[in-house]
Amino acid sequence: MSGRIPQSFIDDLLDRLDIVEVIDRRVSLKKSGRNYTACCPFHDEKTPSFSVNQEKQFFYCFGCGAGGNAIGFIMDYERMGFPQAVETLADTVGLEVPREATVFQEEPQQKKNIYSTLEKATDFYRQQLKTHPQKSRAVDYLKMRGLSGEIARDFDLGYAPPGWDNLLKAIGQSNENSQLLIDGGLLIDKPEENKCYDRFRDRIIFPIHDIRGRVIAFGGRVLGDEKPKYLNSPETTVFHKSRELYGLYQSRKANRQLQRLLIVEGYMDVVALAQHGINWAAATLGTATSTEHLTKVFRLCSEVIFCFDGDEAGRRAATRALESALPVMEDGRLARFLFLPQGEDPDTLVRQIGASRFTHLVDQAQPLEDFLFESMAANLNLNTLDGRARFSKTVTPMINQLPAGIFKELMMTRLAETTGLSTEKLAEIQELHEASKHSEEVSAAPDSKPTPEAANPVQRSSKPSPPEATRNPILYAIALLLHEPKAAKKIEIPSSLEHNESIHAPLLMAILELLHKRPESTSAMLIGRWYGEPWGETLQQLLQLEQFISEADLEQELIDTLSYLDQLHQRTKLDNQVDKLLSKDYAQLSEEEKTLLKQSLSDMHSK
Ligand code: UTP
Ligand code: MN
Repeated sequence: MSGRIPQSFIDDLLDRLDIVEVIDRRVSLKKSGRNYTACCPFHDEKTPSFSVNQEKQFFYCFGCGAGGNAIGFIMDYERMGFPQAVETLADTVGLEVPREATVFQEEPQQKKNIYSTLEKATDFYRQQLKTHPQKSRAVDYLKMRGLSGEIARDFDLGYAPPGWDNLLKAIGQSNENSQLLIDGGLLIDKPEENKCYDRFRDRIIFPIHDIRGRVIAFGGRVLGDEKPKYLNSPETTVFHKSRELYGLYQSRKANRQLQRLLIVEGYMDVVALAQHGINWAAATLGTATSTEHLTKVFRLCSEVIFCFDGDEAGRRAATRALESALPVMEDGRLARFLFLPQGEDPDTLVRQIGASRFTHLVDQAQPLEDFLFESMAANLNLNTLDGRARFSKTVTPMINQLPAGIFKELMMTRLAETTGLSTEKLAEIQELHEASKHSEEVSAAPDSKPTPEAANPVQRSSKPSPPEATRNPILYAIALLLHEPKAAKKIEIPSSLEHNESIHAPLLMAILELLHKRPESTSAMLIGRWYGEPWGETLQQLLQLEQFISEADLEQELIDTLSYLDQLHQRTKLDNQVDKLLSKDYAQLSEEEKTLLKQSLSDMHSK
């Protein structure tokens, strides 16, 4: 097959892959701190200098300078070209690689067509709820669940009637339209069996909206006890379930400024809560709450309350939610945990006790810090030294996940109080712990002789002095963006950049422009964008700066770096002007020029 692979597909592919899985299948990786390490497969070495960053989805090697995203790794490791590497990886996630036709078909248009098809399907299902001969079964079911017509309308609820081809006939008549229904996840296509049929049949339909209000997927519930109870749209180009929350759009719409968001488990919970006036709830779609979910939610409001069953499974789910929340708990954000009585979910409970008592429970929910300390202390005896040591061993790494700030400090203090160990002592323990982890790793590496540096892991893990690039503001800004593309959001492109003579200035400009156009781009996508070009080489080298980039307040760091660039530019401009003036006859200068000259000379004098 020929034709270019669309960039949007490559972005999407990188988004679905996990580089740790991709590499680990070929080179066995060990977890070490935030990263994974191994002996580098691209050069001969005895101690590991190859590192994979899961969060940012790239790898690099301190030893030989290799680096890149998952696609780059496959190209180098399997010695294949770019298209073959993309094919190989797409296979592992079950995606077919599209090719751009010779007639240029713009990708966004394809997405637009899917959105409008999903909108048409929403209308169709809604219409069926009003007109289908069997509509009363669906309407009665909704009434039985206590929902009013008004709330059904607010959530665009619908009905997919029984039968294999209702939607297909209503919307998918032409080849083009049926293909869009397939791409949107509404038709199941089995060409080998010569079959193509409606995914949702005889179910209540819950349209899932993105934050902008576009329908991107559906959930469907049976009217009785058949299995599966709920069916969801598959992953499509417009729907990634690990990122979306059902009801987030409606919550935003119902509240001018969303103060807090209750995260529950089910579609029905969201709708039933809204029916009772609690219109600030959203549900994950059969997955655990992820950091991605929370990043999105915390952009919209500053408080999240997780709601779980009071049973063992609920506790486990809460611990997972806690772990996802830690990295995004910046100062000013709040997370709390609400455990419901056994056997209840928000839907059944709010119907029993009403909105105000339910809201009261939410108000009383356990703060994240209490839940963390309480759940990690369960099964430990904090009266013994051993218990306290174990406790600090589990809790310290969790606190280390928190972004730097007052909250983190407070948590450290609380840990010190709980264990009776000073924060300095705790830091020491943590360091020893890291060091022993490291030496285990090194000694576990096959046929490695202990080298002097490996024998002294603490020294080995201490950071070397930063290389030249961190003293070059343009390269430093590029590195910051590469490691945290989101930081570009509030940044304007500095006007001086256009006139900057550094050979790296155009790359910085291109990255800023790209990130403004596609704010969702990730590190791995940036690397992919210029793969195999000189700019790509620069980016690859900058990957290794990871260790010098502090995680705290990257955005401010970037703002400062760019304003420093602007200042530098102003200064050079002024210097050049002064140079020019000095070469002229003083008497010939205008008054303005004289003042400028005098001023700049006296400035110099005072320095
Ligand atoms: P629950 O089984 O707790 O259902 O699933 P529920 O929300 O209380 O449903 P009702 O009250 O019986 O209608 C919680 C969520 O898990 C996902 C759905 O997102 C559901 O809302 N789920 C559940 C599925 O995806 N498939 C299933 O078969 C069941
Ligand atoms: Mn339920």
